[in-house]
Amino acid sequence: MISNIDAFVFDAFGTLIDINGVDAALRQHFGHSAGRVGDLWRRKQLEYSWLSALMGRYRPFSKLTADALRYAVHYFGGQLSESQMDLLFQAYQELQIFPEVTSMLDDLLGLPLLVLSNADGLMLRNALEFNAIADKFEDVLSADQCSTFKPHPTVYQLAVDRLGLAPRSIGFVSSNAWDAAG
Ligand code: LAC
Repeated sequence: MISNIDAFVFDAFGTLIDINGVDAALRQHFGHSAGRVGDLWRRKQLEYSWLSALMGRYRPFSKLTADALRYAVHYFGGQLSESQMDLLFQAYQELQIFPEVTSMLDDLLGLPLLVLSNADGLMLRNALEFNAIADKFEDVLSADQCSTFKPHPTVYQLAVDRLGLAPRSIGFVSSNAWDAAG
């Protein structure tokens, strides 16, 4: 199966980057509820992205991520100042990749590798550069380029067009079921 694959395209957050890393920052404010706050943050972030796509009213993923954080903090009764909120948002920009990612990418050396993410350019670049893996990819594509979000087909088409390959010969790697469905 893998021998028929000529290029790999990776989702970023949740697939290359371990989003559970925010729990440590949330723990100082929410103690043992940190995991649930983090889950709600993620769920709202995704919900906002799909609402925005369906309504045709694009807002960058970084903004939706900040909005979703605000929702989750208030839902759990957190009384956080703007600067505490900013620090939590900053934690999202400094998430680490899963431990096996660098060696896995090295094993694929020689094949075109792309990132295709809903995150907007700066947020995405920051995350990849923070983890020193940006240069492993031939290109980093963002849903920002078509002002909508995965799983809208136009976003996946970005990767197909960029690679100039038939979709069946491109391996798309995502930990998100909704993304795999897309
Ligand atoms: C991404 C997240 C939303 O597209 O999974 O990177």
